[in-house]
Amino acid sequence: MKHFTPILAFPLLFISSCTPEKNIDSEETGASKKETLAERKYAESKAIYGSFCASCHDSGLAGAPKPGDSAEWDKRMAPGLDAIVKKSIDGYDGKKGTMPPKGGNENLTEKEVREAVSYMSGLLKPE
Ligand code: HEC
Repeated sequence: MKHFTPILAFPLLFISSCTPEKNIDSEETGASKKETLAERKYAESKAIYGSFCASCHDSGLAGAPKPGDSAEWDKRMAPGLDAIVKKSIDGYDGKKGTMPPKGGNENLTEKEVREAVSYMSGLLKPE
């Protein structure tokens, strides 16, 4: 029997080192505390853009302005952030294609749309 004990102990060690999810959470909180508020906002905004807007805007589908195209965004941002956020929430027919209300995700809040627009227009920059 003595020989079996270490073999049984291994899987137990393995399980116990994987289970405590709370430790992982607190590690993440610790890491994000080191981030500045601006860094976190940039990351969040980028994530919203990636999940809900990139499908059209990354490729410029149907004339959707691409992030990083500053000449294009300079023109589009001329009426101001509030105006362009409102347009993104309401949706509109453009010259080349249609921007659906909230990019087709009606569950997005105004704040989330504003963040995505801030990211894609280059208003928010990585630190
Ligand atoms: C189904 C494709 C599609 C998705 C998804 C999409 N867009 Fe668009 N969007 C467009 C197109 C096409 C245009 C360009 C219309 C035009 O001006 O000709 C556009 C234009 C815009 C503009 C420019 C508005 C202006 O006044 O010039 C903004 C800002 C914008 N989208 C924000 C967003 C945001 C934020 C999301 C995600 C929440 C999103 N879009 C998701 C297709 C999309």
